[in-house]
Amino acid sequence: MNQAPANALSVKNLLVQFGNFTAINNLAFTASYGHVHAVIGPNGAGKTTLLDIFTGRSKARSGSVLLDEKLELTRLSEVQLALAGIGRKFQKPSVFEALTVAENLDLAFRRADRSLLNEVFSRSDRARSDAVDGILQIIGLGTQRHARAGILSHGQKQWLEIGMVLVRQPKVVLLDEPVAGMSDEETEQTAKLVRSLRSPERAIIVVEHDMDFVEQIADLVTVLDQGATLFEGDMKAARTDPRVLDVYIGR
Ligand SMILES: Nc1ncnc2c1ncn2[C@@H]1O[C@H](COP(=O)(O)OP(=O)(O)OP(=O)(O)O)[C@@H](O)[C@H]1O
Ligand SMILES: [Mg+2]
Repeated sequence: MNQAPANALSVKNLLVQFGNFTAINNLAFTASYGHVHAVIGPNGAGKTTLLDIFTGRSKARSGSVLLDEKLELTRLSEVQLALAGIGRKFQKPSVFEALTVAENLDLAFRRADRSLLNEVFSRSDRARSDAVDGILQIIGLGTQRHARAGILSHGQKQWLEIGMVLVRQPKVVLLDEPVAGMSDEETEQTAKLVRSLRSPERAIIVVEHDMDFVEQIADLVTVLDQGATLFEGDMKAARTDPRVLDVYIGR
C-alpha cells in the first residue's frame, strides 16, 4: 500500500507581525516526513521568519504549528523546541575553531546527553566515539577528523555544522541558505549530503536562493511571497509558473 507521508509540521493560520508589519500572513504550510521541502521566495518573503517560528526565535501573533499533528509548538521556548526535535543550522557558523572536527562533535554529543537526560545519563566514551564516527561518515569529514575546525574550508565548516545538528537526531531539520558562499563543487557535495539525510523519520526544510541546488534536492517547493504561499509543487513547475516568474522578475 502506498501511504501518504505523515505530517511532521502542520502550520495553520499563522500570523507573525513586527509592529504593524505583517511578515507571515495567515500561512498554511505542511512539512512531511521523508521529504526535503524547499522554501523559496524573494527577499523579505518571510522565509527566515518561518524558521524563527519553528525554533522559537520569533513568536506568532496567532495560529498554530503542530508537531506530529499533536504537540503545539507556538508556545514552547527555544530549548523546549530543540528537545522536542527541531534542529536548525544557522547561516552563521557556531563551531569551535580551536577544537578539532571530532572534538566539536564529541562536545555536541556531551551537551545533548546532558540536556536530554538531566545529567543522569551520559553515554560511555566508546559509545560517544562511535557516534562521532557515524556523523563523520554522513558529513564526509572522516579524513578531517583531527583537523582543527578553524582550518576547514567554508563548505567543510557548513557540513560540520550540519553534523552538529544531527547529533540530537532531530525529527525536523531546518537549513537556512546551506550553500550560500559555497563553490560549485561544495554545492554539489551539499546536494548529495542533503539527499542522503532524507529518511522516513525526518522532515527536512531548506530555505535557499540557489534554484539549481533546490531543483536537485527538493521533493516539494513552496514559494513564499509577502508571508503567504504563492505556489507549491516541484521546482520544474515553479520555474515556469507565471506568478513565480512575476515575483522574481516582474519586481
Ligand atoms: N525582528 C524583526 N523585526 C522587524 N521586522 C522584521 C524582523 N524580522 C524580520 N522582519 C521583516 O520581516 C520581513 C520578512 O523577513 P525574513 O527575514 O523572514 O525574509 P526572508 O524571506 O528570509 O528574506 P531573505 O531572502 O532576504 O533572507 C522582512 O521585511 C523583514 O524586514
Ligand atoms: Mg532569510
